[in-house]
Amino acid sequence: MKKLLYSLTTLLLLSSSLKADEGMWIPLLLKKYNYEQMKAKGLKLTPEQLYDVNNSSLKDAIVWFNGGCTGEIISDKGLVLTNHHCGYDAIASNSTKDNNILDNGFWAKNNGEEIPIPGMWVSIVQRIEDMTDRVTTELAGVSEKDRPAKLQEIFKKITDEVKKGNKLEAQMREMFKGNAYYLFVFQRYTDIRLVGTPPQSVGKFGGDADNWMWPRHTGDFSMFRIYANKSNEAAGYAPDNVPFVPKHSLPVNIKGVKEGDYAMIYGFPGRTNRYEFSQGIDLAIEKVNPTIVNLRDIRLKAWKEVMDKNVSDRLKLSADYAQIANYWKYFIGQTEQMKRLKVYDYKVESEAKFKAFAQGKPQYQNVLQNVENAYVAYRPYALQRTYLSEGILGVSMNGFASSMIPYANNIKDNKDTAAASRALKMAQANADEFYNAFFPSADQKILAQILEMYYMNIPADQHPAYMAIILKSKGKTNSEKFRSFAAIVYAKSFFASKEKFDAFMAAPSYKKLMADPCFAMVSAFYNNYINNYKVKVDEFNAAIGPEARAYIKGLMEMNPNKVFYPDANSSLRLTYGSVQAYEPKDAVKFDYMTTLDGVMEKYNPNDFEFNVPTKLIDLYKAKDFGNYKRADGKLPVAFITNNDITGGNSGSPVIDGDGQLIGLAFDGNWEAMSGDIVFDEKYKRTINVDIRYVLFLIDKLGGAPHIVAEMKLVQ
Ligand code: ARG
Repeated sequence: MKKLLYSLTTLLLLSSSLKADEGMWIPLLLKKYNYEQMKAKGLKLTPEQLYDVNNSSLKDAIVWFNGGCTGEIISDKGLVLTNHHCGYDAIASNSTKDNNILDNGFWAKNNGEEIPIPGMWVSIVQRIEDMTDRVTTELAGVSEKDRPAKLQEIFKKITDEVKKGNKLEAQMREMFKGNAYYLFVFQRYTDIRLVGTPPQSVGKFGGDADNWMWPRHTGDFSMFRIYANKSNEAAGYAPDNVPFVPKHSLPVNIKGVKEGDYAMIYGFPGRTNRYEFSQGIDLAIEKVNPTIVNLRDIRLKAWKEVMDKNVSDRLKLSADYAQIANYWKYFIGQTEQMKRLKVYDYKVESEAKFKAFAQGKPQYQNVLQNVENAYVAYRPYALQRTYLSEGILGVSMNGFASSMIPYANNIKDNKDTAAASRALKMAQANADEFYNAFFPSADQKILAQILEMYYMNIPADQHPAYMAIILKSKGKTNSEKFRSFAAIVYAKSFFASKEKFDAFMAAPSYKKLMADPCFAMVSAFYNNYINNYKVKVDEFNAAIGPEARAYIKGLMEMNPNKVFYPDANSSLRLTYGSVQAYEPKDAVKFDYMTTLDGVMEKYNPNDFEFNVPTKLIDLYKAKDFGNYKRADGKLPVAFITNNDITGGNSGSPVIDGDGQLIGLAFDGNWEAMSGDIVFDEKYKRTINVDIRYVLFLIDKLGGAPHIVAEMKLVQ
């Protein structure tokens, strides 16, 4: 099995046959498969300085940031640098109209002023192990049907063994769709405090207009600090915890980057699907992606109206809005670029090659036909899941009401009263947060439009019976009916008011819940999915699983000289390449770096997304850039590299050949938005904020030179 992962016979051919820069590599294997090439590209470190278990190495400075991002430790006092959009929720939820750190920025003058963020955590990888042999041995003889459950059992056994007698965490990760298995052992830290952030006019400069685009001028960073107990061990929040002393922290190189410089990015990429089948691409382009975009459009428009009306409501909705808007634009871009770059045709071609290879090989020859059959069976139902999660449950009140479903299911006939009361407790625990950012009239508008979209786009024979009740509502047209139904829901449901919800919670009952119009509707749609369509999804996954596994195994056999890398799966990876410009289209050249001049060109005081603080304008006019400017006197803002990253890498360090920090990855570029499916060498770039801009913003704009003084600067 291990041989499958990287073909050993061909190591000598490696540097010539390996496509540069594509690949999110497993750090444990760098020494074996990537090191020589990294060196040839400009790496000066030893393999042990990249990843080591017994001695400190770069990996000890990389943190998995709160499950969705990456951060890096940049001082021996546990200072963590990550993106502004990764700290956004923490920053927004600590902002009020009168103490508005989201809009105004914030820098703690000393440790005492740092803001604890309950629930936030970071994890540092302690070691990685290849568990493929053990897992495959234990899986031997297990049927496809029993495989998922058996895998969970094996994973649990392994991780339990690792965690025994210590405070470590362990996670098993499936690679190559089930051809390899790796163990990741972590130490998790839970006392994390906000140290500082630029104003969002800088940290989110360009907003959604510039999101996913180069040339970019965003100072997308924020800073946190890890605290530990007095013995430097991970511990829950305590006022007398002390700054964590890491095994390694990254030195900061302010000498600057130029085109062609070596650059590597270490972090936790979330998900790619580079081995997707052509049918999956077609389904995404034609059905799923446009549906997600249209459903999100509805929510975004209604929320925007609320946010534009007053500051405190804007602060309450900002984080959710940013999150929804980010992937709304992602799916627009992914669809557009998959079409432009003819990703479907490319996949069909690769599949044709596979088909030829598979001819006469019983383990492979039916793979693609079985995949086709699975897609044909699934396609008519493929939007059910999207409409449930992005549509019905995307309506805030519906999402909240749905947390009562386990209560209803378990209290009915006293099936599991303990589970029922757990559901109640959970709803109670989430209630304050929900009602704090609940805008019934916007929500009501959203509900009416989503129901109508469901009605139009889901075939009638797939609607829940409840649709007939909805359509009995008053109105001449369907639109009117959906609107009057929504009006009744928000007028009558006890979920629509905190007081009525509290009254229900004081004396909860199945009968009252079932009589609630919001709950009745939500459970009708939910049960329709669970009872009729979840089984289609499960059947599809069960059919595709073994074929996808065989497909990748076959591809490896077909290309014995190629080194394969696994899809991203929120495990620690490293990607290496260089600083590189690109040409987005005919006759257009994009430079590899932007400067503060460009911020001033985009500056527009009448546009929320392109406004900037007066102080930044003053610093610009005075050219007060300290040590952070380029030789030509300009202040660098962002630069691009050809590294292979995806969501989850947000906040990852961009590291030079000497192991020093030169920037902070924060985005991908528009022309390669199909990158999670196919890496396009010509167009794919990573957008990074230049570390010199980060330091300028802390030191000069933020007036916090003491934070910079903590770092090891290399000039
Ligand atoms: N596209 C960036 C990413 O996914 C996030 C940028 C956040 N900014 C925004 N305007 N929503 O990493």
